[in-house]
Amino acid sequence: MEPKKPQASKTILTDTVLPSETNAIHTLFGGELLARMDRAASIAAKRHSGQIVVTASVNHVAFKHSVPLGSIVTIEAKVSRAFKSSMEVYIDVWVDNKTSKKSVKVNEAIFTFVAVDDKGTPVLIPQLAPESEQEIQRFQGALRRKQLSLVLAGKMKAQEATELKALFK
Ligand SMILES: CC(C)(COP(=O)(O)OP(=O)(O)OC[C@H]1O[C@@H](n2cnc3c(N)ncnc32)[C@H](O)[C@@H]1OP(=O)(O)O)[C@@H](O)C(=O)NCCC(=O)NCCS
Repeated sequence: MEPKKPQASKTILTDTVLPSETNAIHTLFGGELLARMDRAASIAAKRHSGQIVVTASVNHVAFKHSVPLGSIVTIEAKVSRAFKSSMEVYIDVWVDNKTSKKSVKVNEAIFTFVAVDDKGTPVLIPQLAPESEQEIQRFQGALRRKQLSLVLAGKMKAQEATELKALFK
C-alpha cells in the first residue's frame, strides 16, 4: 500500500451552537463538542484507510476556552500517524471571533481509530507520509502517545513502553 499524505484525510466540519447544545451558562456542552470531534475524526480516519473505522481511544482533550451560544465552530481533523491497523487523528477546534473576524483556536484533541472489516477484525492500513513541520512534529510524538494509551488501557506493560520511558531519561 502506498503511503498517504495527511492532507488526503483532512476533514473540516463547520457548524453553529444551538440552545439545545449548551450547558447552564449558555456555552457549548463538552459532550456535544466531543461528539462533533469524533464525527470529524472518524471521517478523516476513513479517508486515510478507506475502511470502516471505530473509535478505540480518546487520548487527549483540552477544553481551553468556552464556546458561546451562537458561535460558528470549525473542527479540523487530520490523521497524524498510521500504525498497522490503528491511526492517531489530531483535531483542532476554531471559533469565529465576532469582532476581529479571525478564527480563534479554542480546543485540541487526539483520538485513536482502528480500521476493521465488516466483522470488526482489525485490518492493515496505508502508512502516513507527513509533510509540514507541524505534521512531522505530530507524527514523531504519536508512538509515545500510543504507548501511553495502551499502558493506561492495560494492553501494554509500562516496562515495554520504550518511547514513553525515553521521555524520563
Ligand atoms: C478498537 C478494537 C477494534 C481493538 O480491537 P483489539 O482486539 O484490541 O485489537 P488489537 O489488540 O489487534 O488492536 C488493534 C490496534 O488497535 C490498537 N489499540 C487498541 N486499543 C488501543 C488503545 N486503547 N489506544 C491506542 N491504540 C489501541 C492496537 O495497538 C492495535 O494497533 P496496530 O494494529 O496499529 O498496531 C476493539 O477494542 C473494539 O472494537 N472496540 C470497540 C470500538 C467501538 O465500538 N468504538 C465506539 C465506541 S462507542
